[in-house]
Amino acid sequence: MSVRLIDVTKIFEDPTRSEGKITAVDRVNLEVAEGEFVTFLGPSGCGKTTTLRIVSGFEAPTEGDIIIAGRRVNDDPPNKRDTSMVFQSYAIFPHMSVVQNISFGLELKGRPKAVVREETARIMDVMGLSSMAKRRPDQLSGGQQQRVALARAIVNRPKVLLFDEPLSNLDAKLRDQMRLEIRRIQQTFGITSIYVTHDQIEAMTVSDRIVVMDKGRVMQVGTPFEVYSRPANRFVADFIGRVNFFDGRVVEGGDPLRVDLGGKTVEVGSRVPGVVEGGRAVVAVRPESLRLHPANEGGPSFATGKVTKAVYLGSVIEYELDAGFDRPVLAVSHDPVDAGFFTVGDIVALDFSARAAHALASEILKPLPATSGIA
Ligand SMILES: Nc1ncnc2c1ncn2[C@@H]1O[C@H](COP(=O)(O)OP(=O)(O)OP(=O)(O)O)[C@@H](O)[C@H]1O
Ligand SMILES: [Mg+2]
Repeated sequence: MSVRLIDVTKIFEDPTRSEGKITAVDRVNLEVAEGEFVTFLGPSGCGKTTTLRIVSGFEAPTEGDIIIAGRRVNDDPPNKRDTSMVFQSYAIFPHMSVVQNISFGLELKGRPKAVVREETARIMDVMGLSSMAKRRPDQLSGGQQQRVALARAIVNRPKVLLFDEPLSNLDAKLRDQMRLEIRRIQQTFGITSIYVTHDQIEAMTVSDRIVVMDKGRVMQVGTPFEVYSRPANRFVADFIGRVNFFDGRVVEGGDPLRVDLGGKTVEVGSRVPGVVEGGRAVVAVRPESLRLHPANEGGPSFATGKVTKAVYLGSVIEYELDAGFDRPVLAVSHDPVDAGFFTVGDIVALDFSARAAHALASEILKPLPATSGIA
């Protein structure tokens, strides 16, 4: 029931482009364990759907192998792969009732009538669809239709469930509910699942592991914690959530790392391989991990900045600060009513804990100015 992708590449011929072809998927290697929920996350056009279609058999790889449950399935058509796909558009039959939609696949397989009835009833019960068994899709809400589509995919007990942005047609609230629903159903049945989305919150909510892709390539495979808090590179750090990057030089390679940021030394609790003493590094700090203090209070800080924007959102307040770096510094403060907040024009000192800072290799680096960073 596990799925393996070995060096999977897909090159499309595209006569409208000067190069004549496009590498949609570029040497992707991945192992999805039995019962695991893995999500492909990345910007539009990065190759998520193409990869999923290659697993399902709707697309053939230009190179590489697909292994499902230990067997190479490259030459098997989609209906011989024991995968089931759930799409963005629900793909349920408009002229059939809920119960007919769900039982259709089992009937097609020639299962005995009693079994079809029993299995269909069970799945409708799990999905909360029993009370609407006789209704047609046009008598259902978007979320209910999507549940029918999901029930239809699951009732056949596929070895692998494949989802391509299944929730993008739903409104925000329903999407939140359906995410948890999908996760619950997947865990109830223990079905190995591969999910595609470009919504990072969705990916964080449902996944055991996330595969972050860019331009057909895998940039990182990790748990939600790893891709958010221990990103492998600048692309991942930047694509998932918001982040501040501070360019610096590693003055001590120990644990914690000590990094010079334009004259002030900060401690950094984690790093990627390749960050070494004497070399350059980019220190990544999430906005919610930056601590702001009134500048006149003294205390530890690596920079001083002026508040240029303060957006009050109720539960949080979001700041932009000019601290003399090449881009504005972002900070988020929680519970502003209790914690107090700054306003535009205030001068604040910036600080972060070593735990919340992560050092990346500085692959793309502008030359550092002689004195950078300190206002
Ligand atoms: N049949 C095709 N012929 C030519 N190019 C294609 C074809 N299908 C996809 N592509 C190209 O391959 C790349 C990857 O497309 P894909 O649909 O996999 O992206 P995606 O990550 O799913 O994007 P989105 O988030 O927008 O759905 C894109 O540049 C796309 O234009
Ligand atoms: Mg897509």
